[in-house]
Amino acid sequence: MMINRNISLYGAMGGAEAIRSIVESFYPKVQKHPLLGPLFPADIDPVIEKQYQFLTQFFGGPSLYSDQHGHPMMRARHLPFPITPERAEAWLDCMSRALEEVGLEKELREIVLDRLSGPAHHFINTTE
Ligand code: HEM
Repeated sequence: MMINRNISLYGAMGGAEAIRSIVESFYPKVQKHPLLGPLFPADIDPVIEKQYQFLTQFFGGPSLYSDQHGHPMMRARHLPFPITPERAEAWLDCMSRALEEVGLEKELREIVLDRLSGPAHHFINTTE
Protein backbone atom coordinates (compact mmCIF):
# COMPACT_ATOMS: atom_id res chain seq x y z
CA MET A 1 0.00 0.00 0.00
CA MET A 2 1.20 3.53 -0.80
CA ILE A 3 1.42 5.69 2.28
CA ASN A 4 1.66 9.43 1.85
CA ARG A 5 4.11 10.42 4.56
CA ASN A 6 3.89 14.10 3.64
CA ILE A 7 0.18 14.57 4.26
CA SER A 8 -0.32 17.52 6.60
CA LEU A 9 -2.51 17.48 9.65
CA TYR A 10 -4.53 20.07 7.71
CA GLY A 11 -5.15 17.49 5.00
CA ALA A 12 -5.89 14.71 7.47
CA MET A 13 -8.44 16.90 9.26
CA GLY A 14 -10.32 17.58 6.03
CA GLY A 15 -8.83 20.84 4.75
CA ALA A 16 -10.55 24.19 4.40
CA GLU A 17 -14.07 22.90 4.91
CA ALA A 18 -13.16 21.13 8.15
CA ILE A 19 -11.27 24.10 9.60
CA ARG A 20 -14.25 26.31 8.77
CA SER A 21 -16.64 23.95 10.59
CA ILE A 22 -14.32 23.75 13.59
CA VAL A 23 -14.06 27.51 14.13
CA GLU A 24 -17.80 27.92 13.60
CA SER A 25 -18.48 25.29 16.25
CA PHE A 26 -15.76 26.59 18.59
CA TYR A 27 -16.65 30.28 19.04
CA PRO A 28 -20.26 29.85 20.18
CA LYS A 29 -18.87 27.63 22.96
CA VAL A 30 -16.24 30.24 23.81
CA GLN A 31 -18.89 32.97 23.91
CA LYS A 32 -21.07 30.88 26.24
CA HIS A 33 -18.19 30.00 28.56
CA PRO A 34 -18.27 32.13 31.74
CA LEU A 35 -14.46 32.45 31.89
CA LEU A 36 -13.92 33.11 28.17
CA GLY A 37 -17.00 34.87 26.83
CA PRO A 38 -16.34 38.24 28.54
CA LEU A 39 -12.91 38.53 26.86
CA PHE A 40 -14.37 38.47 23.35
CA PRO A 41 -16.18 41.15 21.35
CA ALA A 42 -19.91 40.75 20.62
CA ASP A 43 -19.13 40.81 16.91
CA ILE A 44 -17.31 37.50 16.77
CA ASP A 45 -17.15 37.15 12.97
CA PRO A 46 -13.77 38.89 12.54
CA VAL A 47 -12.32 36.64 15.28
CA ILE A 48 -13.72 33.54 13.56
CA GLU A 49 -12.12 34.65 10.30
CA LYS A 50 -8.69 35.26 11.86
CA GLN A 51 -8.81 31.94 13.68
CA TYR A 52 -9.78 30.22 10.44
CA GLN A 53 -6.75 31.77 8.78
CA PHE A 54 -4.46 30.98 11.68
CA LEU A 55 -5.46 27.34 12.21
CA THR A 56 -5.24 26.74 8.45
CA GLN A 57 -1.60 27.71 8.47
CA PHE A 58 -0.85 26.24 11.90
CA PHE A 59 -1.90 22.78 10.74
CA GLY A 60 0.04 22.99 7.49
CA GLY A 61 -2.38 24.54 5.01
CA PRO A 62 -1.83 27.78 3.08
CA SER A 63 -0.32 30.70 5.03
CA LEU A 64 -3.57 32.68 5.11
CA TYR A 65 -2.92 34.36 8.46
CA SER A 66 0.62 35.61 7.78
CA ASP A 67 -0.33 36.74 4.28
CA GLN A 68 -2.91 39.11 5.76
CA HIS A 69 -1.65 39.94 9.25
CA GLY A 70 2.11 39.41 9.18
CA HIS A 71 4.08 37.39 11.73
CA PRO A 72 1.62 35.62 14.07
CA MET A 73 3.43 36.59 17.34
CA MET A 74 0.53 34.88 19.06
CA ARG A 75 1.76 35.20 22.62
CA ALA A 76 2.26 38.95 22.13
CA ARG A 77 -1.18 39.30 20.54
CA HIS A 78 -2.69 37.68 23.63
CA LEU A 79 -0.86 39.90 26.15
CA PRO A 80 -3.69 42.47 26.35
CA PHE A 81 -5.96 39.70 27.72
CA PRO A 82 -5.66 38.03 31.14
CA ILE A 83 -4.92 34.41 30.18
CA THR A 84 -5.03 32.35 33.37
CA PRO A 85 -4.33 28.61 33.61
CA GLU A 86 -8.10 28.11 34.04
CA ARG A 87 -8.80 30.02 30.84
CA ALA A 88 -6.24 27.97 28.92
CA GLU A 89 -7.97 24.77 30.06
CA ALA A 90 -11.38 26.25 29.22
CA TRP A 91 -10.17 27.20 25.72
CA LEU A 92 -8.87 23.66 25.14
CA ASP A 93 -12.10 22.18 26.46
CA CYS A 94 -14.20 24.28 24.05
CA MET A 95 -11.88 23.18 21.24
CA SER A 96 -12.16 19.55 22.29
CA ARG A 97 -15.95 19.74 22.15
CA ALA A 98 -15.85 21.52 18.77
CA LEU A 99 -13.59 18.83 17.30
CA GLU A 100 -15.97 16.16 18.53
CA GLU A 101 -19.02 18.04 17.25
CA VAL A 102 -17.63 18.29 13.70
CA GLY A 103 -16.96 14.56 13.74
CA LEU A 104 -13.18 14.25 13.82
CA GLU A 105 -12.20 10.78 14.90
CA LYS A 106 -10.80 10.33 18.39
CA GLU A 107 -7.19 9.68 17.44
CA LEU A 108 -7.09 12.78 15.26
CA ARG A 109 -8.79 14.87 17.96
CA GLU A 110 -6.09 13.88 20.41
CA ILE A 111 -3.30 14.85 18.02
CA VAL A 112 -4.93 18.20 17.22
CA LEU A 113 -5.52 19.00 20.90
CA ASP A 114 -2.00 17.98 21.76
CA ARG A 115 -0.65 20.43 19.15
CA LEU A 116 -2.82 23.24 20.54
CA SER A 117 -2.07 22.50 24.17
CA GLY A 118 1.52 23.83 23.93
CA PRO A 119 0.51 27.24 22.58
CA ALA A 120 -2.50 27.49 24.93
CA HIS A 121 -0.26 27.02 27.97
CA HIS A 122 2.42 29.25 26.49
CA PHE A 123 -0.12 32.10 26.27
CA ILE A 124 -0.78 32.03 30.03
CA ASN A 125 0.28 35.47 31.24
CA THR A 126 -1.32 35.85 34.67
CA THR A 127 -2.66 33.77 37.55
CA GLU A 128 -5.76 35.90 38.16
C1 HEM B 1 -5.22 29.97 26.20
C2 HEM B 1 -6.46 30.47 26.13
C3 HEM B 1 -6.83 31.52 25.13
C4 HEM B 1 -7.60 32.62 25.36
C5 HEM B 1 -8.27 32.98 26.68
C6 HEM B 1 -7.65 33.38 24.14
C7 HEM B 1 -8.30 34.57 23.99
C8 HEM B 1 -8.23 35.39 22.88
C9 HEM B 1 -8.78 36.72 22.78
C10 HEM B 1 -9.53 37.44 23.90
C11 HEM B 1 -8.53 37.19 21.55
C12 HEM B 1 -8.88 38.56 20.98
C13 HEM B 1 -10.23 38.60 20.32
C14 HEM B 1 -10.43 39.99 19.74
O1 HEM B 1 -10.86 40.89 20.48
O2 HEM B 1 -10.13 40.20 18.54
C15 HEM B 1 -7.81 36.13 20.85
C16 HEM B 1 -7.36 36.23 19.55
C17 HEM B 1 -6.80 35.19 18.87
N1 HEM B 1 -6.44 33.97 19.38
FE1 HEM B 1 -6.66 33.37 21.26
N2 HEM B 1 -6.94 32.72 23.18
C18 HEM B 1 -6.43 31.58 23.72
C19 HEM B 1 -5.68 30.63 23.08
C20 HEM B 1 -5.41 30.62 21.74
C21 HEM B 1 -4.74 29.56 21.04
C22 HEM B 1 -4.22 28.27 21.69
C23 HEM B 1 -4.67 29.92 19.74
C24 HEM B 1 -4.07 29.21 18.58
C25 HEM B 1 -3.06 28.34 18.69
C26 HEM B 1 -5.29 31.23 19.63
C27 HEM B 1 -5.43 31.95 18.46
C28 HEM B 1 -5.92 33.22 18.36
C29 HEM B 1 -5.93 34.01 17.14
C30 HEM B 1 -5.44 33.56 15.77
C31 HEM B 1 -6.48 35.24 17.45
C32 HEM B 1 -6.67 36.44 16.52
C33 HEM B 1 -5.38 37.27 16.60
C34 HEM B 1 -5.47 38.56 15.83
O3 HEM B 1 -6.11 39.51 16.30
O4 HEM B 1 -4.90 38.64 14.73
N3 HEM B 1 -5.73 31.61 20.85
N4 HEM B 1 -7.64 35.07 21.68
